[in-house]
Amino acid sequence: MFCPQSHGFINYVSFYFERLAIILFLTDEEKRMLDGEMGYGAQKGMELNVGLGEAMGAERMVKVDSCHLGGLSIRSAEDAGFDFYTELSDRGAKFRICTTTNLVSGDLENWSVLGLAADERERQDKLINAFDRMGALKTITCTPYLQGHLPRFGQHCSWMETSAIAFINSILGARTNREGGPAAVAAGLTGRAPEFGLHLDDNRVGSVLVHVTMKKMASLFEAGNLGYWFGKYSAQGNIVLDGIDEFINNDYMAQLCGSAATSGPTGIFHIVGITPEAPTLEVALGGKKPVLELEYGEKERQEAIDYLNIGKGDEVDWVYMGCPVLQLNDIREVVVAIEGKRVHPNVMFWITTSSSTKMLAKRAGYVEILEKAGVTVVADTCACLLPLAHLQRMGKKGIHSVVTNSTKQAHLIPGCCYMEPHYGDLDKCIEAAVTGKWR
Ligand code: F3S
Repeated sequence: MFCPQSHGFINYVSFYFERLAIILFLTDEEKRMLDGEMGYGAQKGMELNVGLGEAMGAERMVKVDSCHLGGLSIRSAEDAGFDFYTELSDRGAKFRICTTTNLVSGDLENWSVLGLAADERERQDKLINAFDRMGALKTITCTPYLQGHLPRFGQHCSWMETSAIAFINSILGARTNREGGPAAVAAGLTGRAPEFGLHLDDNRVGSVLVHVTMKKMASLFEAGNLGYWFGKYSAQGNIVLDGIDEFINNDYMAQLCGSAATSGPTGIFHIVGITPEAPTLEVALGGKKPVLELEYGEKERQEAIDYLNIGKGDEVDWVYMGCPVLQLNDIREVVVAIEGKRVHPNVMFWITTSSSTKMLAKRAGYVEILEKAGVTVVADTCACLLPLAHLQRMGKKGIHSVVTNSTKQAHLIPGCCYMEPHYGDLDKCIEAAVTGKWR
């Protein structure tokens, strides 16, 4: 397993720069960008766009006016990304559209609390400042759509962060491909993206039908199990979920999307009667018969849990919640579950969120309750973005086993943190935190 946010950057960039022959239609403005008349950033962005468009068989560019970027974390950017982004910034590149930013490699207001080193902070600050100088908004969250950056139905976007991509395509009906760093930066610098993939109507239609017979979807854990289970079929076509008739709030939808985009290449899925491109089953399937029909019931739910719950032994060193980052209501659920209890002295318990949600949680009194119980509320980062050296330091402190209720994190932790997680619902995680044992 590997962290999808941290590999192959150099190959990705070189691939684009090697393929600059123009075979697609460009407007006069786009040609001026490519010729360098609109500045270094627009030129580099258009070069990347043209290379990607040619490789993917795009016929033209589409105007995009919303961009969400990963790559700010020093762990995911690696040296090549760091050099690429800081050079763009040093040479005066500027984003031309609304551009928000994903999580980074540390809690910026409580840097030392997690035990991160000063030189890691310095490098992280340099990278954040590079994006800041280019005009990106320092949202530092993987759920920007729940924090003010909310694309409209039909709006063309260029987003990174697979959970967010699945959310804006599926739940909002906006249009983005699953972008990598250079492609999203290119769109931010030019306000254009090559028109292929999920920008086009035909590629958004569903073809794999899942009859959901399992009820009680309304929790982070259950939404995650469903998403994880169907995500693995998304390589065979866009998924259509039929049979969900209970209200699932946007926090649970974020979990559903994050999980679906982790076990497979999900960029979009539909929920009949709920998501905007699926008012009916017939519309969701584009009037065609499904290529595959499946059922999600108790057996399939258990399959997803068993696949992820691979921890050995019963000792618990670390309880981790928050992937995608927790929203205010999710934090309240943790507060209700732990209030009056105390985290076991041998256990480190983190919940991760954005700094803006943490501010709201502070005002609501939740942070105080959590801290009294022994929970650390971590902002701006997540387990998969922690610097590698930090993981070694954690290991030296005896952090070797982890418990989580986050489906995406349960999938990623073996590759990102080199631990095999125990995976269970909120109540099981709280019990593990309080007793120091996984049962
Ligand atoms: Fe967000 Fe990190 Fe998960 S960026 S979706 S909390 S892997």
